[in-house]
Amino acid sequence: MSAHWIPIACVIMLHRYRIQFPPADSEKLEQDEVFFTLVEDGESKRLRFHDYDEIYKRPGLYEQLFYERLRCTSPEKVADLLQRALETVREPISELRVLDLGAGNGMMGEVLKRNGVARLVGADIIPEARDAAYRDRSTVYDDYYVADLVNLDPDKLEQLREWRFDCLTCVAALGFGDIPPRAFFNAMKLVRTDGWLAFNIKHSFLDHNEQGGFSRLVRELIFSKYLDVYHLELYRHRLSMEGTQLFYYALVGRMTASIPEDFLEKHGIEE
Ligand SMILES: C[S@@+](CC[C@H](N)C(=O)[O-])C[C@H]1O[C@@H](n2cnc3c(N)ncnc32)[C@H](O)[C@@H]1O
Repeated sequence: MSAHWIPIACVIMLHRYRIQFPPADSEKLEQDEVFFTLVEDGESKRLRFHDYDEIYKRPGLYEQLFYERLRCTSPEKVADLLQRALETVREPISELRVLDLGAGNGMMGEVLKRNGVARLVGADIIPEARDAAYRDRSTVYDDYYVADLVNLDPDKLEQLREWRFDCLTCVAALGFGDIPPRAFFNAMKLVRTDGWLAFNIKHSFLDHNEQGGFSRLVRELIFSKYLDVYHLELYRHRLSMEGTQLFYYALVGRMTASIPEDFLEKHGIEE
């Protein structure tokens, strides 16, 4: 086979990085504080898991770290539950117009595209994510916006509305200093009134003792008249650095009515 025909995912995987995990117990750190050492050209560089810009710049590093070594399964899980929900109501996935929020380098997008969605638009807050998605998965997204959905400029808002989304996906990007409640809420408002939501959250986010804005938003949504939950499944999202299992919920639901603009304020949810 000539190199010409090797799929892009294989090309990325050909480059191996030297990744070292620290001796300290990473379970004492918050998920966004966890770090590892990358040895490159004889030099050691300490990177946090949330240094996405540095990680995405290196083709295949994100995949090697989270998907190979830490066995992340979330895009497959969330996409599978979405597909099952659509089958329940006999709606073809081939007609779905999806906004993939916190799209990163396109791991979720790749699965959605393979499953046959009609349109797929990515959004992420850092340009390195879009650059990596276009570099490594150039045929996956119809468009990709680098945007802060907390404060969208009117032009971008209008462009996003023109896609007439009927599904919002968001994988491994909610909570822990990633996407705040207001950005997720604004993204939901870009989806048609009876559109779909498919995302995952850490299992403790559904715990009543958890008072963070995002976990409160999800709990309020689940018990509101604005969402019908089709699937809520506890599953293993990935391993921690120590090899313990990190459990998340995957949630797929269908919106049932237009969520009022003051939903966050009314429920005292911090932005
Ligand atoms: C762990 S990655 C997940 C990427 C991809 N969804 C996946 O499953 O592999 C989280 C992504 O969320 C993005 N992100 C963080 N805060 C964001 C925000 N406020 N708005 C949009 N994206 C954000 C990060 O830049 C990062 O690319």
